[in-house]
Amino acid sequence: MISIRNIGRRFGAVEALRDVSFDILPGECHAIMGENGAGKSTLMKILSGVIGEFDGQLVLNGKPVRFSGTREAEAAGISIIHQELNLVEQLSASANIFLGREPTLIAGILNQREMDRRASEILCELESSISAQATVGSLRIGDQQLVEIARALSLRSEILIMDEPTSALTESEVERLYRVIEKLRARGVTILYISHKMNEVFHLADRITVLRDGRFVRTLQKSETSPKQIAHLMVGREIQERNRRSVASGALAQPAEIALEVRNLSLPWAGQAGRYRLKDINFQLQRGEILGIAGLMGAGRTELLECLFGAGGRKPQGQIRLNGVECRFRNPADAMKSGIAMVTEDRKRLGLFRQLNVRENITVSALRELSVAGVVMSAREKRRVIQQVESLSVRTAGIEAGITTLSGGNQQKCIVARCLLTNPKVLLLDDPTRGVDVGAKAEMYQLMERLAEGGMSMIVTSSELPELLTVSDRILVLCEGRLTGDFAVHEATEQKIMEAATSGGRVLATA
Ligand SMILES: Nc1ncnc2c1ncn2[C@@H]1O[C@H](COP(=O)(O)OP(=O)(O)OP(=O)(O)O)[C@@H](O)[C@H]1O
Ligand SMILES: [Mg+2]
Repeated sequence: MISIRNIGRRFGAVEALRDVSFDILPGECHAIMGENGAGKSTLMKILSGVIGEFDGQLVLNGKPVRFSGTREAEAAGISIIHQELNLVEQLSASANIFLGREPTLIAGILNQREMDRRASEILCELESSISAQATVGSLRIGDQQLVEIARALSLRSEILIMDEPTSALTESEVERLYRVIEKLRARGVTILYISHKMNEVFHLADRITVLRDGRFVRTLQKSETSPKQIAHLMVGREIQERNRRSVASGALAQPAEIALEVRNLSLPWAGQAGRYRLKDINFQLQRGEILGIAGLMGAGRTELLECLFGAGGRKPQGQIRLNGVECRFRNPADAMKSGIAMVTEDRKRLGLFRQLNVRENITVSALRELSVAGVVMSAREKRRVIQQVESLSVRTAGIEAGITTLSGGNQQKCIVARCLLTNPKVLLLDDPTRGVDVGAKAEMYQLMERLAEGGMSMIVTSSELPELLTVSDRILVLCEGRLTGDFAVHEATEQKIMEAATSGGRVLATA
C-alpha cells in the first residue's frame, strides 16, 4: 500500500502540488482525474522517482521512501508509463525493455540472444506481433507503448502507473490494453490510471481521486459516483453543456461560398497495386462551415487531412480546389502559404519543438508574416502570442517558459494556437481535444464556433462521436477509405454514423 502524505511540489512560481494526501490500496485500479495542469503527472513522477525533491512523505508498505531516480522506484516495485513515452528511439525493442539490466554472458558481454528471447516472450504475452529486434523509432505509438509496458512486466512491478496511456491508441489497441490491464490485475498488480476519458475511467477504476489546482479534492468509490459528479469536482463549477450547432443560427454564407472542394480524391496504397487508402472522395466545404469526419480507426481520416495539407508525403490523385483554384501541395509549407493549417494528431513526433519555449513553439509557423526583412518583430509577436495564450487559456508560467514545463493538455493547446496564428482560411483539426480536459474542451468548442462565425472553415476529426455531433455542421463518414455517409448534423445520430462507419465500404444513406 502507498500512503501519499501532505505532498507538495513547486516549480518556481508554480505550485504544482500542495498538501496532497490519500492512500492507494494493494491490487486496486485507482484513477487520478483533474484538469490540464492539475498536477496529476507531477504526482506520478514523484511516485515513480522521476522527481526526487518534494515536500511531505511517501510511505510504501509502512516505510517512508524517497526515490532519487526511476531505478530506485523500479527496485521498490513501482514503474511508470509516461504520458509522452520515454524510449530510446534508436534502440531495438528488446534493448529498451532491458535498458540498464541487459543479460550478460561471462565477462560482461551482452547476451543478445537471451535478451531478444525474453523480450519476445513478454511481447507475446501482451498479444503483440512486433519483433524484439525492431527499432523502436520505427514502431507505431501503440506498439511503442507496449514496449514500455513490456519493460514494466520484465521488472515484475507491483505498482504500474499509466499516464494517459490511450491518448494515441487505435480502438483495437485500446481493447488490447484493457485485456493487458485485466491480466495484470489478475496477478495482483496495483494500477494507477490517468485519463481524460470518462468512459475509460468508469470502465477500469475501482476508485477515483480528483485533483484540482494541485490540491486533493476527493477520493470516491466508482460505484458511489458518476461522470457528472467527477467532472464537477474537477472544474469546481458546472460545465456549460454545449448544444448542437444549428446551421440556421450559424454564419454559413448564403448563397454558399465554397472554400474548399475535393473531387475524386484517391490515395493509392504504396506498394499494394490496385489498392487504395482513400477512394473517390468528393465533398465541398463552405466558408464558415465546420465539417466533422467520422470513421473507425484506420478508415482514412488522418490520411484525408494529410492529403489536403500536403503532409506525410501523400501523393493523392484527383483535384483539390481552394476558393475555386486547383492546387497541389508538395508539402505543408506550401499548404500554409495558401491558407490551410493543420493541428496534427501526434504531438510528440510532428508537433512540438521540445527545446523551444512556449512563444517560439506558437510562432514557428507564422514567423514569415511576423518578421520584416528577416528580423522578427518582437513586440508584435509577443502581443499576438499572449492573445492566443489567453483566448485558449493555456496554463503556463509565461510565454518564455520551456514548452516541456507545460502539462500535456496545455502543450496541445499551444499547437492549436500556432495554427491560428497563421490566420488560415481552412483549418484542419485531427483529434484536437485529445488529452484536453472537460472544461478546456468546452472552451475549444466555443473557440471553433467563434472562428466559424468569423468565416474560417474547419474540418475536424475526433475519437469521440458525441464531440463531433456537438461541433459540426455536417458529418462525413469514412469507411475503409470510402465516403459512406454525409449527414447534416440535425439529421445525424450516433447510430446512423456507426452504421455508415461499419458498412464495409458500401455507400449508405446520405441525408
Ligand atoms: N518541469 C516543470 N517546470 C515548470 N513547471 C512545471 C514542470 N512540470 C510541471 N509543471 C507545471 O506544474 C503544473 C502541473 O503539471 P502536470 O503536468 O502535473 O499537470 P497534469 O495534471 O498532468 O495535466 P495534463 O492533464 O494536461 O497532463 C502545470 O502548471 C505545469 O505547467
Ligand atoms: Mg499530465
